[in-house]
Amino acid sequence: MELRDRHVVIVGGTKGIGAATARLAAARGARVTITGRSPSSLDAALQRLPSGVVGEPLDFTEPSSVAAFAARIVAPDHLVLCASSAVAWGPFAQLAEDALQRAFEAKFWGYWRVVQALAANLPETGSITLVTGAAARAALPGTAGLAAVNGALEAAAKVLAVELAPRRVNTVSPGLTATEAYAWMDEAARDGMFADAAAKLPARRIGQPEDVARVILLAASNPFMTGTTLDVDGGAHLAR
Ligand SMILES: NC(=O)c1ccc[n+]([C@@H]2O[C@H](COP(=O)([O-])OP(=O)(O)OC[C@H]3O[C@@H](n4cnc5c(N)ncnc54)[C@H](OP(=O)(O)O)[C@@H]3O)[C@@H](O)[C@H]2O)c1
Repeated sequence: MELRDRHVVIVGGTKGIGAATARLAAARGARVTITGRSPSSLDAALQRLPSGVVGEPLDFTEPSSVAAFAARIVAPDHLVLCASSAVAWGPFAQLAEDALQRAFEAKFWGYWRVVQALAANLPETGSITLVTGAAARAALPGTAGLAAVNGALEAAAKVLAVELAPRRVNTVSPGLTATEAYAWMDEAARDGMFADAAAKLPARRIGQPEDVARVILLAASNPFMTGTTLDVDGGAHLAR
């Protein structure tokens, strides 16, 4: 029970993969802090999560919000970055520069700011886990924007693993996972997309948030694991 009484801070813990990670970490005896951008999103999440999990407001697109958050977080042990609000889909030839810039702001720069603000507060036994995405290395047409954002994080994480040592830094790379990120889609279209994707994957299924949460906590808790990318994508990185 490597996480017992450890403080796990999950940026983006109100929904999806982050919320599943919060639930599992709490079940393993960790003290858990999640973040959300609004009081209503935090309240709704805390009602669904085990008692004892606490919430902190954070919008990592705002440097002042990151600074205030870092000042409030006391004694973090394990930092998990698991958030995004914009992706840049589409063929390279048509991908608008401002869409890609928004996607970098909504993930890469947010992660960057939070790690820069909190890394020095982590103990030497602490860890940082960045949730990236299978598009970084799957070379699927239409995903150059996703690959750029997530690939940049995976490349930087290896350097951080050396610079921030002995604190450990790893990335976890999910494939398509059924989360609230797809709540905007019409239900039938979403189910169809999930079924199509599942049929093409070697695992013949898409991911559930708990699948990814288990790997995030493996990266956070294994004391001999650093500078690594863990794929949890049903085989999506084996793009054919
Ligand atoms: N789901 C997939 O298929 C998939 C595949 C590959 C990679 N990923 C990656 O996995 C991570 C989690 O995805 P998910 O599907 O679990 O997402 P999700 O269900 O949409 O949840 C997103 C989380 O990020 C938070 N968030 C969004 N923008 C933020 C900001 N500016 N500052 C701080 N927090 C912010 C949200 O907080 P609020 O409560 O404020 O909304 C929420 O807690 C993301 O990095 C995503 O790129 C997901």
